[in-house]
Amino acid sequence: MKNINNINTTFIGKKIIYLEEIDSTNTYLKNIGNQEKDGTVVIAKNQTNGRGRLGRSFKSGNDEGIYMSILLKPNISLEKVSFITLIVGASITKTFNDLGINSFIKWPNDIILNNKKLGGVLTELSFNENNTYYIVTGIGINVKTLDFDFDIKNKATSLYKEGYNIRRSIIIKNILENFEKLYKLYINNNDKEEVLKISKKSSILINKKIYITKNNSKELVTCIDINNNGDLVVKDFYGNIKNIVSGEVSIRGENGYI
Ligand code: BTN
Repeated sequence: MKNINNINTTFIGKKIIYLEEIDSTNTYLKNIGNQEKDGTVVIAKNQTNGRGRLGRSFKSGNDEGIYMSILLKPNISLEKVSFITLIVGASITKTFNDLGINSFIKWPNDIILNNKKLGGVLTELSFNENNTYYIVTGIGINVKTLDFDFDIKNKATSLYKEGYNIRRSIIIKNILENFEKLYKLYINNNDKEEVLKISKKSSILINKKIYITKNNSKELVTCIDINNNGDLVVKDFYGNIKNIVSGEVSIRGENGYI
């Protein structure tokens, strides 16, 4: 992959650390996060232990994808952190849609192309001894992968597989630039409007029946909206409206992945 030059940002990606191979760019950046500046980015060609939400793994081999993490040191309260995953998701879909790739978001963190998973976002916190914290948000996108393992074959895809041949450096530059704009609006003005607009417009779940799994209980609901906190709004079997907070829920479509 080419190095990323001329990024039009004020702090995101001003420093980029390029690695050949690492267990996980999120783990790496969490370990050095204390010494690094706000906005530092780590990009790896390969991850040997790429991680996803809920303890899942994220296949990341052979220089086939985009595996990157961004360090963030905002001065915000903990309950505002989960919205950052939505900001990242909105930056990714905006980037793809501007490039003519019609992608969607499976709330809260999967990026979807042609009804299959193209990538995902994993946002994590690291606490310092004095109880301050920093955030590492990781982005994984399948770019050149043609063969997926048996267990994800039917639900994962890549840009190449869907017929798109676009330089990773261009995708990364656009994601980082889009992210900085939306992130600054949120951190400085609590302005979520554009992110919510993109999240709703690109949502693959709204108006669908989905299974929500939490602590071994599984419920079939209809997804109706994303509210101003970024929670998923659903209607249950009895017509009750509920807000789902991203945390530990897993979501599946009524008849499969979505
Ligand atoms: C998911 O699918 O649940 C999220 C996947 C996030 C993968 C990215 S790849 C870069 C960063 N490092 C990791 O170990 N995970 C994230």
